[in-house]
Amino acid sequence: MRHTFMAMRGIGAALASAYALVLVASVQAQTQAPSAPTAEQAYKSIKVLNGTPAAELILSMHFIRTALGVTCEYCHVAGNFPSDAMKPKEIARQMISMMFAINKNTFQGRQVVTCYTCHRGRAQPIGAPVYPLDDPKPEAAPVALPSADQILASYVRALGGDPAIRRITSRVITATQYIPTGPGGTVPVPAQTEQYQKAPNLVLNVYKTPTYTISDGFDGTTKWAQDAAGRVIDAVRIDQGRARRGANFYESLDLKQAYGKLTVGGIERVQDRDAYVVVADVPDDTPERFYFDRDSGLLLRKAGVLPTPLGAIPFQVDYEDYRDAGNGVKLPFVIQMYPANPRVELHVTATVRIQKVEENVAIEDGKFIKPQSRAAPPR
Ligand code: HEC
Ligand code: HEC
Repeated sequence: MRHTFMAMRGIGAALASAYALVLVASVQAQTQAPSAPTAEQAYKSIKVLNGTPAAELILSMHFIRTALGVTCEYCHVAGNFPSDAMKPKEIARQMISMMFAINKNTFQGRQVVTCYTCHRGRAQPIGAPVYPLDDPKPEAAPVALPSADQILASYVRALGGDPAIRRITSRVITATQYIPTGPGGTVPVPAQTEQYQKAPNLVLNVYKTPTYTISDGFDGTTKWAQDAAGRVIDAVRIDQGRARRGANFYESLDLKQAYGKLTVGGIERVQDRDAYVVVADVPDDTPERFYFDRDSGLLLRKAGVLPTPLGAIPFQVDYEDYRDAGNGVKLPFVIQMYPANPRVELHVTATVRIQKVEENVAIEDGKFIKPQSRAAPPR
């Protein structure tokens, strides 16, 4: 595997809802089949991450970089990642072994302690509390929480109600957003995007930048992405499940069916609003959290994680500026993604701004057929 992150442009229907412009597949993280290469098979100088999937190595590096608040060059000789010349790289290896041992011996192998537990964005963790300190506050009296069913029902009402939602069967959305390109996705390129959605679960997204066009979609069965060279790849397993849920045209009506158990987790602040937190257990995946505005009932945020061998990468999508798109159903016209997609550096964010929405337009099913690759797949 060559320097995979070079080509990274990002996929991940991930948590993005049917409305969020579902992003493009990262060329790098291709398959996670049992036969997928391990880190030591794909890279030159692996001593502690043996046996972890090669496709997750760069994600782990993004995680370390953020956990310590440093650049890649803090541990790596520029342009020579396999080199072991830098002292912090050697210390990092000891830290990885320590972390694996703590989790194995104290937490039954669950990934509880990560680099971030101690480092909190600094290379040298702080052991003593730092002034000024927060006063301990008396415990607030517990508030009675509505049930998950009540929260979901008020969400559907706030959007415009079940009958109005079902009267819409297709949508064409035009929006702007920056596409993460370059190493780790750190180079933003402006794009005009077109999103086609059709019930029950067909999605096509086209991203046009000044110099190239990329696309991705869900054809009812498979999540795919096409890069600027015309190569088409299928998303990895974890992204397939997320894309399937996100592609549901009536996701807002089907949350209960799409997810496993829903538990009301309390009230948290989302920006300047109070939100009910609903935690969704997802079969074969990590839990997702939904934040519903306590006053309006609308969905303000979805949050989840992408697991890596060294720690989970948080992924959050915020929905703002809900407006009636013309047929009595509200849509968020501003969608903020942190990070821009789950496979870029954590500090790379993206904002989707919807410019135009057309509903109940005729879209041929053929438009959603997965395209043929126009070039050999990436190695
Ligand atoms: C805190 C130190 C640290 C930082 C920061 C860091 N790495 Fe690493 N990196 C390591 C260690 C340690 C290994 C070797 C792991 C092992 O031995 O199993 C490694 C291995 C790698 C490898 C495999 C090289 C090979 O062929 O053996 C690549 C590629 C890599 N890192 C890329 C990056 C990138 C890109 C960044 C920035 C996003 C980064 N690293 C940030 C510590 C770091
Ligand atoms: C249990 C707490 C803990 C965890 C977990 C932890 N570290 Fe550390 N780390 C420390 C402490 C404390 C120091 C400072 C040690 C010292 O001062 O000698 C340190 C120092 C380091 C340093 C040297 C920094 C410098 O240049 O001075 C690196 C690099 C590092 N850690 C990487 C990592 C990585 C990568 C992970 C996750 C795989 C990790 N650490 C997990 C506690 C932790």
